Amino acid sequence: MGDENQDYRKKEGIVLAAVLIFATLSVASVLVTLTYYCYLRHQLSKRTKIRQQKICYEEKASNFANIQVATERGLQVFTFKQLHSATGGFGKSNVIGRGAFGLVYRGVLQNGRKVAVKLMDQAGQQGEDEFTAEVELLGRLASPYLLSLIGFCSKSNSKLLVYEFMANGGLQEHLYPISGTKAMPSNLNWETRLRIALEAAKGLEYLHEHVSPPVIHRDFKSSNILLDKNFHAKVSDFGLAKHGPEKAGAHVSTRVLGTQGYVAPEYALTGHLTTKSDVYSYGVVLLELLTGRVPVDMKRPPGEGVLVSWALPHLTDRDKVGEIMDPALQGQHSRKEVIQVAAIAAMCVQPEADYRPLMADVVQSLVPLVKHHRPSGAGNAATPLATPSPTA
Ligand SMILES: Nc1ncnc2c1ncn2[C@@H]1O[C@H](COP(=O)(O)OP(=O)(O)OP(=O)(O)O)[C@@H](O)[C@H]1O
Ligand SMILES: [Mg+2]
Repeated sequence: MGDENQDYRKKEGIVLAAVLIFATLSVASVLVTLTYYCYLRHQLSKRTKIRQQKICYEEKASNFANIQVATERGLQVFTFKQLHSATGGFGKSNVIGRGAFGLVYRGVLQNGRKVAVKLMDQAGQQGEDEFTAEVELLGRLASPYLLSLIGFCSKSNSKLLVYEFMANGGLQEHLYPISGTKAMPSNLNWETRLRIALEAAKGLEYLHEHVSPPVIHRDFKSSNILLDKNFHAKVSDFGLAKHGPEKAGAHVSTRVLGTQGYVAPEYALTGHLTTKSDVYSYGVVLLELLTGRVPVDMKRPPGEGVLVSWALPHLTDRDKVGEIMDPALQGQHSRKEVIQVAAIAAMCVQPEADYRPLMADVVQSLVPLVKHHRPSGAGNAATPLATPSPTA
C-alpha cells in the first residue's frame, strides 16, 4: 500500500513537472513572439516617420528655395488663404477679365494695396511653363513701362500670380468698348493714343535693348497693354516671353505661339523668332490705335478683313492715309502727325523682318510727336485726359 502511494506521488510529480515545463515554454514563446511583434512594429513606425520627415523636409526645402529665390527678387510668396480673402473668396463680382491663363480677379491685400490676381485654370504643361516664365522674368525686370509682379502662390495645383492693379484694364477694352452686345465708339482721344503708343514702345525697347540677353515678348497685343487710372500704359504678360539670341541678327527657333493677327509672317511660317517679330506685333497695335479696327475681322467687306493688308497701301499714301483713321477721333489729329505715325506703322509691319526698325528708333520717332502735340480742341467730352508721363 505504502509502495503504491509512493509510486503514485512520483508519477504525479513527473506530470506536474511536465505541465510546468510546457507552461513555461508556452509563456516564453508567447513572450518571444510578442517581443518580436513589438520590434517589427517599432521598426515600421520608425521607417514611416523617417519617410514622413523626408517628405516634409523636401517640401520645406522646395518651399524654402522658392521663398529664397522670390525674396531675393523682392517677390512676395502668398498663401492660397491670403489670396482667397484678398479677392472675396474669388467671388464673381471681383472678376475683371479672362485670358488664356484663366480668370483675373480684383483684390485688396491686408496692407490695403489693390492688386490683380490671376488664377491659373489648369495646371497643364503650357500653363506650368508660362507660370514659371512669368515669375522668373517679371521678378528680375524693372521698368516703369512693364507691369510689376508683386508676388505669387504656388501650392500644389493652385498657381496664382499677383500683379499691381491697373484701374483702366486692357487697351482693347477702350479701343472697342461694348455696351451690352452693342459696339460703341472709343473714348480714347488722339493725345492719349499717342502717349500709349510711346509708353508701350518704351516697354518693348526695355525688353529688347536694356536686358541681356534680350527678351522677346512673343504675345504683344492690345489686351497686353494695361492702363492705369491716368491712362498711362504698361506692357504685361511675359508668359510667352523668350530669351532672344545674344548675337545681333541671329534667331531663336521655337513653337509658333502668340495671337492671330499679331504674329509676324516669318515667325508664323518658319518659327524663327527675333526681336523684329515683336516689332511687327507693335506695328499691328499702332494700326489699331490709328484705325480703331481689330487685327482680324472676317465679317468686314472683302479685302478689309485683315487689318495689315487693308491698311498697308494707305499708310504711305499721303492723300489716302486720312481715310483709314478711326472715325471716333473726329479729326483731333493734325495731318502731319497722322502721316508720321502711319509711316512708323508701315515700317513696323513690313513683311521683310530686316527692314523693320528697332524699338529704340520707334521711341525716338514718337517722342517729339508726343511732346509737341497740341490738342486740337475737337476731343470727345468723355475723353480721359491723362497726366503727363514721368519720362516722356
Ligand atoms: N494687372 C491688371 N490690372 C487690371 N486689370 C487686369 C490686369 N491684368 C489683367 N487685367 C484684365 O484682365 C483681362 C484679361 O487679361 P489676361 O492677360 O488674362 O488675358 P488677355 O490679355 O486677354 O489674353 P492672354 O491670356 O492671351 O494674355 C485684361 O484684358 C484686363 O482687362
Ligand atoms: Mg494678357
